Parts: sequence; structure tokens; C-alpha cells
Amino acid sequence: MYTEIIKIIEGGLKKEPTKVVLYAKKLAEKLESEGDKQLAKGIRNLLSNKAVSSLTMEQLLTTAPVDQETRMSIVDVFNPAQSDLDVVLPESIERKVADFIKVVKHRDKIKQMGFVAQNTLLIYGAPGVGKTTIAKFISTETGLPLVIARLDAVISSLLGNTSKNIRKIFEYADSKPCILFLDEFDAIAKARDDQHEMGELKRVINSLIQNIDMFTQNNVLIAATNHPELLDKAIWRRFNTVIEVVQPNAEGISKIMEMYLGKFATELQSDKKKYERVIQLFAKKSPSDIRSIINNAITQSVVNGRETVSAEDLLIENFQFDTHGKYSAEELIKYLSDNGIPKLQIADLLNVSIRQIRNNLKD
Ligand SMILES: Nc1ncnc2c1ncn2[C@@H]1O[C@H](COP(=O)(O)OP(=O)(O)OP(=O)(O)O)[C@@H](O)[C@H]1O
Ligand SMILES: [Mg+2]
Repeated sequence: MYTEIIKIIEGGLKKEPTKVVLYAKKLAEKLESEGDKQLAKGIRNLLSNKAVSSLTMEQLLTTAPVDQETRMSIVDVFNPAQSDLDVVLPESIERKVADFIKVVKHRDKIKQMGFVAQNTLLIYGAPGVGKTTIAKFISTETGLPLVIARLDAVISSLLGNTSKNIRKIFEYADSKPCILFLDEFDAIAKARDDQHEMGELKRVINSLIQNIDMFTQNNVLIAATNHPELLDKAIWRRFNTVIEVVQPNAEGISKIMEMYLGKFATELQSDKKKYERVIQLFAKKSPSDIRSIINNAITQSVVNGRETVSAEDLLIENFQFDTHGKYSAEELIKYLSDNGIPKLQIADLLNVSIRQIRNNLKD
């Protein structure tokens, strides 16, 4: 007797994908042990399908937990089916991310063999290097929805509520086919500087650790932080994969430029020397900043009816970005000249007379 079938039908009628998935897995196990490997395989293939993830999405969205005081949702849910996200990473980091994805994809198989697959990843690095993007990328690649809890938003003025919020988030994500992502993970540690009472804060951290321990026995957990130095040793120990994301090198910058320039890249790349100068210009900038500068240049190009983005356009946008738009015409002229743009071209670009440029640069 396959009582699982009744449970699966029940789950389908009540729109409870967790139940459907759970009993379908059990059914597959039973069939396999009885020798019907083909059917078991068919069921498992279905379970790794995108259909499951959209069913899960619906359930995740309708049951998202809220803060008791503000009634605001304390999680966001990222749908992997609606994204074809890409990320440019140095090779060593890319490999670590790919390894993690592989283990997540095979976690059921590892469990069936009687082993524990620990799927815990801590990502750290400077702002804008792509930590959140990596978590979303892992979600896209594994097809598992990403439950994003920003811990800075979870910390309530009342620490009692914070503990409650943390518990709600873990309970919500538990045993659903999803990945729990604790973003801005250092927020809890940072709360130490605030007015909170130390003993109470310690209890919050301890409850966080307990929740992590329970949760990670069966589920996938990712955390990200800009401030790894603020995290306790006890927290570090909970993560079996740790990835430091660094700023891209010249090759990475070039790839990021290609990615965000799209069709606008061709013209720019035709002049190798200028292209390399732009790469140098973007050294030490985060991928996020590079993306903003490129987007601004493309926007300007489009609204002005042009079809290309030049190295000079990027230079000007870079200056605007660095100065937050607060600069004089003289400063911009000097900047362009310092970056090797001839006077005549500067006059043309800024629509001013060559005399004014000469006067400016004389001072
Ligand atoms: N490595 C990357 N490759 C491609 N695009 C990237 C990369 N890193 C960041 N970006 C772009 O920059 C934007 C911001 O990046 P993201 O939010 O992932 O950074 P973060 O490291 O999480 O920053 P923060 O510390 O501020 O949370 C992303 O939406 C993405 O478009
Ligand atoms: Mg982030």
C-alpha cells in the first residue's frame, strides 16, 4: 500500500508543496527499495523541476513572517525561475561557488547514503563586490527560492522581539525547499555598540546560534557580511564554506564592462589603448560602482540620441560618480586633460570654446 499517494493528493488539493515534495520523495524511496528504479528516478526528476519551485514560491509568498510591532515583512523571497542572473568572479572564487552549488544539488543523494551534507556558506567582502548577487546566483543555479532576511531590519528596538523575529524566520524557512540567506549578518554583533543590555544581547546571539544549528541539519544556509571581524568565533565555526570576495582584477573589470555595456561595448573595444585606460580607471572600484557608471553613460548616450558609448563618456561619468556630481567646469576640464584627452576634444565634448579650455588649463 502506498499511503504516500493519499498524502500527495492531499498536499496538492491544499496547495501544500512541502507535503507533496516530502511524500513524493518517500514514495520514490519506497519504489526504489522495491526495485522499481525507473519510476523512482522519474519522480525524482520531477522533484528537481522548476514546477516545484514555482509551487514553493507561491507558498513562501503567502506565508511570509512579519514583525509583531510594525507588521512589516521581515523576509524577501527571491524567485530563481524569474532570473537569468550572472556574476563575474575571480576563478578561485568561482570554483568555490560552483563546488557549493554541486553539494547543494546532491544533498539528497548524500543524505540517502547516510552521510550529513553540511550546506553552510559565509560570504564576506567590501560593499558592492557581489555578495548578495552570489547568493541569488546560487538560488538561480539550484532552482531553490532564496529567503532573504536582512538582519539589520530584523533587529527590533525590543530585543525580545528580535529573538522572536529570528525564530519566526528559521521556522518559516525550515523544511521548505529553499535557501535561507541571512544578509547583513554582522548587524546582530553591531547592536553591541548600541543601547542594548549586554546580557540580553548575548541571549539573542545564543538563540541565533541555536537556530542555525537546528536549521542546518536539514537545510541550506548562506550568510553575508561586510564586517567579518565583528563575528564571533562561535559563529565562524558554524560555516563549513567561507568565501572572501575581493575586488576584480583587470580581466574581471573587462568582463564586467562587457556584461553591462552589452551592445555598447563593440565601439569602445575597437580602440584598445582607450579601452585599457578605462579599465585602469575602474581599478579599485567595486563591480556595483562600475555598473552604475556604465548605466549612467548608457542613459546619457540614449537620451542624447547617440548609439555608442565612448571612453570619454565613461571618463566623465566616472568623475561625476567620484565627486557625487559636485564639481566646477574647471575641475572637469582639468580632470579630462589629466587623463590624456586633447584640448580640442575637451572643447568639443563639453561644448565650450577652445580658448576657455586653454585659459582654464593655464591656471
Ligand atoms: N561580481 C559581480 N559581477 C557582476 N555584477 C556584480 C558583481 N558584484 C556586484 N555586481 C552588481 O552590483 C550590484 C550590487 O551588488 P551586490 O548587492 O551583490 O553587492 P554586495 O557585495 O552584496 O554589497 P553590500 O555589501 O552593499 O550588500 C548587483 O546588483 C550587481 O548588478
Ligand atoms: Mg549585499
